[in-house]
Amino acid sequence: MDNNFPHESAAKHVTGEAVFVDDMLINEQMLCGRVVYSPHAHARIKSFDLGAARQVPGVHAVLSYQDIPGHNQMGPVVQDEPCLAEGEVHCIGQAVFLVAAESGEIAFEAARLIHVEYEPLEAILTIEQAMAKNHLMGAERKIECGQVDQALQEAPHRIRGRLHTGAQEHWYLETQISVAVPGEGDEMTVYSSNQHPSEAQAIIADVLGIRRNDVRVEVRRMGGAFGGKETQANHVAAWSALLARTTGRPVKIRLFRDDDQIITGKRHPFLIDYEVGFDESGLIQAVHVELNSNGGMATDLSFAILERAMFHADNAYFIPNMRIIGRVWKTNQPSNTAFRGFGGPQGMVSIETMIDRVARYLGRDAAEIRALNFYGKEPRHITPYGQAVENNRLAIPHERLIQSAEYQQRRREINQFNAENEFYKKGMALSPVKFGISFTTSFLNQAGALVNVYQDGTVLVNHGGTEMGQGLHTKIYGIAADEFGLSADRIRLNATDTAKVPNTSATAASSGSDLNGMAVKNAIDILKSRMIPVVVEHFNHIHTGNKTRPQDIRLHNNLIYDHHQPKRMISFREAVVMCYLKQISLSATGYYRTPDIHFDREKGRGKPFHYYAFGMAITEVFLDTLTGYHQILRTDILHDVGDSLNPAIDMGQIQGGYIQGVGWCTTEECKWDEKGNLLNHSPDTYKIPSIQDIPKDFRCQILEGYPNPKAIRKSKAVGEPPFMLALSAWLAIKDAVSAVADHRLEPHFSLPATNEVILLAVEELRQRMKETILV
Ligand code: MTE
Ligand code: MOS
Repeated sequence: MDNNFPHESAAKHVTGEAVFVDDMLINEQMLCGRVVYSPHAHARIKSFDLGAARQVPGVHAVLSYQDIPGHNQMGPVVQDEPCLAEGEVHCIGQAVFLVAAESGEIAFEAARLIHVEYEPLEAILTIEQAMAKNHLMGAERKIECGQVDQALQEAPHRIRGRLHTGAQEHWYLETQISVAVPGEGDEMTVYSSNQHPSEAQAIIADVLGIRRNDVRVEVRRMGGAFGGKETQANHVAAWSALLARTTGRPVKIRLFRDDDQIITGKRHPFLIDYEVGFDESGLIQAVHVELNSNGGMATDLSFAILERAMFHADNAYFIPNMRIIGRVWKTNQPSNTAFRGFGGPQGMVSIETMIDRVARYLGRDAAEIRALNFYGKEPRHITPYGQAVENNRLAIPHERLIQSAEYQQRRREINQFNAENEFYKKGMALSPVKFGISFTTSFLNQAGALVNVYQDGTVLVNHGGTEMGQGLHTKIYGIAADEFGLSADRIRLNATDTAKVPNTSATAASSGSDLNGMAVKNAIDILKSRMIPVVVEHFNHIHTGNKTRPQDIRLHNNLIYDHHQPKRMISFREAVVMCYLKQISLSATGYYRTPDIHFDREKGRGKPFHYYAFGMAITEVFLDTLTGYHQILRTDILHDVGDSLNPAIDMGQIQGGYIQGVGWCTTEECKWDEKGNLLNHSPDTYKIPSIQDIPKDFRCQILEGYPNPKAIRKSKAVGEPPFMLALSAWLAIKDAVSAVADHRLEPHFSLPATNEVILLAVEELRQRMKETILV
């Protein structure tokens, strides 16, 4: 079957018919919920008075932590995140009170009348401040291979450095939202925009002090998530459920954009210290790298994210002696959280900056130094944590991309352009991606499904994954249609529902289709194993001659037939009715767990990933050194998705991931004042990429002819890996800045490379040029 069909909701998205949580018709009883949050980064709550707020006509509830019937907790892994602040507040944006009222205006008015007395305390806002106070979130982590200190000592050349990487706001188009609808007794149904409905269910039950079998969480679709709804959507879900439980009415909480940006965590900023040792040829011999992340006020997923950063500090390169230290620092900021790549980008940028510097130090082309250091054949195929890089696909896209992008030719043209222009410069860079697929917490790699076949021959598929725009449901359509031999119009994908498929993992780590696709296939296999004997018996009963055997049966074109004797044929629908009359169950659950993955945190060794996804990009930029204005002139991408489950969807993920990465690398900058107030919390000051930021010439290709033996239908996960291809854009800008000094001096650079960072780098470089000439 041709799987290149558009997103299953594409038409609905465009016409506005797609139902998001905010579009749901509940009833006229529904109340509007509002979160009242801390204005202080760190303070003691001396006293509060909710009396005046509760008096406002139209107000149905004003709650503090004292009104929580269950456990005042919503930490996903570690129980260090109160549902509502108790005693102290630990960041600006931390929820302290909740209001439910008949309208948003009334809720706002009530919030204004809440009286709180805070005693401000000293706040820690940056990684540096946390380091100075030794304010660690937990124990330091380490992964090490070889003899690092000795190899560094013996290396002919060494470079040290420090790199800052910035936060990134998720900027999902649909802000955090949840509607909670109380039922009879303890029942609570919650419609949540959420990547992790099972965890929302658990936290809601815990906060309300009820059992999980009374809580049902449903997710139809999200208007974008990008990791921002992996844990933090649970907060809004729990708050709405708490208000619904108290008032006995449906309650909706939808965060305003500014509140969403102030309240929720971001991509972790990192402070990276490194030392790299290498020889004359540019071959890396040893690396010592320390990854320090800003965790914010609570643990959230910080350690899993740190771990993934550490697993990607090698990116695509074999480093025989490598020490990777990881630390999470606790600060008075909202708890930082999952964001596409999940620490991978921060890990990769550390080695990419090292390689770039090695090349500049040796006066060589960085693309060459990269290829020289790629993982290769034995013994250059073992990662610092001991996993072998199998089915390595780095050499293929490198060779092809250098050719198809006319890298050498364009390099000469760029040099020419730079020689002829004093203030305009161009730069170009290649960067690879090798991204490990699987949750690094091994037990999370499991999924379930429930497939129902109805007597009219239609199929309803339930699985534990959630749809956030990435096209998971579309891919599952393709899988279910292929496995049943049915046209897509016979199949419907249900909203994700904890009552249909329990105990699911978050849809994250790019493994949504790998895990849920397999679980759905498993359920369909079970159904086919029940239906086929009935069909075989029927054929052998009505036909004489050679007997049909189960292995002769094919399902295709909405038909079931014997492929040796095609006249023995029955429609899928007739077969279903026949099974029903024979009292055969037409509903099955499916299950999948990823085999053979493990990791020992103490030893820092194991096989955390089922396989790796590979990709490569070459980006060329134009830079105006007088303003810092830059533009991506051309990007060539070759990305490995195995046998694509849906090329149109995969292409969207590759292009979208790259552009979102460009945002992190260039214009997206979160700024805070010295009190911890986020200064840019709306689109007028926080700059995500827009139409003009798309490369003028964007040549994206899927690597064809390299099936992945490890995943459903030989496909590969694609959700996150392309994000990191954008490092080529960051490196290309650095290359253009470096051209200011004719590549004889190296610019100082951080991430994101905003216009300001670029201008400062250019000015600093010009200053050093003067000094160098004077000496
Ligand atoms: N694509 C869209 N359109 N919207 C999203 O929110 N999230 C990304 C990626 N692609 C996202 C997206 C993230 S962070 C992940 S982990 C994967 O999709 C999750 O979905 P998958 O596992 O089905 O690829
Ligand atoms: Mo994605 S950051 O794993 O939700």
